[in-house]
Amino acid sequence: MLSFVVFGASGDLAKKKIYPALFALYYEGRLPKNFMIYGYARSSMTTEEFRNKIAESLTCRIDWSKAGESDCAAKSEEFFARCVYVPGQYDQAKDFKALDALMCENERAVSSVKRVFYLSIPPSIFVPVAQNAARECQSKTGDTRVIVEKPFGRDLTSSRELTAALAQDLSEEQTYRIDHYLGKELIENLTVMRFSNIMFQPLWNRNYIRNVQINFSENFGTEGRGGYFDNYGIIRDIMQNHLLQILALFAMEEPASLDAEDIRNEKVKVIRCMRPIEMDNVALGQYKGRETDGKKYPAYLDDETVPKGSLCPTFAAMALFIDNARWDGVPFLLKAGKALHKRQAEIRVQFRHAPGNLYGERQGRVEHVTNELVIRIQPDEAIYLRINNKVPGLGQRLDQTILDLQYKNAYGQVELPDAYERLILDVINGDKRLFIRNDELEAAWKLFTPLLDKIEEQKIAPELYPYGSRGPIGAHYLASRFNVRWG
Ligand code: NDP
Ligand code: BG6
Repeated sequence: MLSFVVFGASGDLAKKKIYPALFALYYEGRLPKNFMIYGYARSSMTTEEFRNKIAESLTCRIDWSKAGESDCAAKSEEFFARCVYVPGQYDQAKDFKALDALMCENERAVSSVKRVFYLSIPPSIFVPVAQNAARECQSKTGDTRVIVEKPFGRDLTSSRELTAALAQDLSEEQTYRIDHYLGKELIENLTVMRFSNIMFQPLWNRNYIRNVQINFSENFGTEGRGGYFDNYGIIRDIMQNHLLQILALFAMEEPASLDAEDIRNEKVKVIRCMRPIEMDNVALGQYKGRETDGKKYPAYLDDETVPKGSLCPTFAAMALFIDNARWDGVPFLLKAGKALHKRQAEIRVQFRHAPGNLYGERQGRVEHVTNELVIRIQPDEAIYLRINNKVPGLGQRLDQTILDLQYKNAYGQVELPDAYERLILDVINGDKRLFIRNDELEAAWKLFTPLLDKIEEQKIAPELYPYGSRGPIGAHYLASRFNVRWG
């Protein structure tokens, strides 16, 4: 049996991601037959109201029109019947004891129970909640696992403190640090693409790859989350975790097996090979307001929860290097920004020129360019390769064309599972491949903390860029120094 507890059950993440993911897993028959979901928070709410809250959140990927209304209604009623709300304080052992008693009551006819606790709460209360849950609510007859949300600290010191505090009551084996980017379909596919296709294996190194870009952009600002964001900034919010994780999977050596520990060993190794980040290789930005066609887009500083004059970057671009034999000298350009012109996440791999000059400048033909592999993580998941091709017909004109795998064409209109669905299922199944191990976290903070300290100590002012633009000019100068144009 599975007892799944959401701490912070009244919150935003629970509503946006956790309930839809749990329901989708139930709908697809992926949850154990015997399960209960407990929402725990301070807010006063009845179980009935809790179920209504979940019902409002179920805008998940199930296509109800295809599922049929009666099926949908029946399934959701069955699901709601397993959801119970338990009000309680986060620092009161007696409230956790009451939760434990209720769970034991519901589990009494079963011989083996797995308990999963999702800490969907602000980081300031991770430790007391984890401690109380570990001390009062561990399963008596099976595994207990705890999912911890980011941010895992805000620098090396605070991250170490958090790790040590959690480790007092939970083993590393029980701790699942979530980075939801690792649950995205195309990120899961990275290892498949790299290690199961012979044509990529020999090319995946400094001899053939000129540079790699990992780009993240959102076409909305920090609206509503300014208070949280200002304490972290874009480097901690996106780069130190999501983009660095992508880079590690992209650049790591082939693991000995697909076991979680083998994969994580390779990831941590490659992060440890990264050169300290130089301030000269970093461009920072913050969005300013813009008015277009009578519509006003706010500046970051317009958010009332953001301190006046904040220098917090909402955009960063940087060049990173991996000092190992495979990647020596290859720039990895990372870029992340809020309030840009589009929402997109992708990896761009630019290859070197084909050697020889048969179709090159010597012949007065300069139209061909280098190959580029693009892995579009979202939206419209795709993998495509730009190649040079002869324009059909007489003559020898070259053109660039695309070998194109569009997921929606290749795999139909089926919506891909949300990252949280995959990750929650992995926790239930005890699969740790897609979760961050403590030494990976340590290596990630070791890389970024000196840079973050410098930015904050020197009060480096970000360059302003208009809401909805492509970001600050500084990012383009940075890229051009490495002979790169952002995709
Ligand atoms: P919320 O701010 O919505 O907080 C969740 C719940 O925690 C609230 O409903 C509230 O419940 C309780 N709470 C809030 N503030 C406090 C406080 N100061 N002291 C005690 N309890 C408090 O957080 P989110 O749901 O947005 O996020 C949860 C976690 O997930 C955070 O660690 C966040 O960083 C992380 N995260 C969130 C994302 C998102 O999109 N929302 C994305 C990625 C990570 P009550 O008062 O009822 O007890
Ligand atoms: C979260 C960040 O981790 O990822 C947010 O805290 C960001 O600032 C979000 O908006 C982006 O996730 P996704 O899956 O929507 O690209």
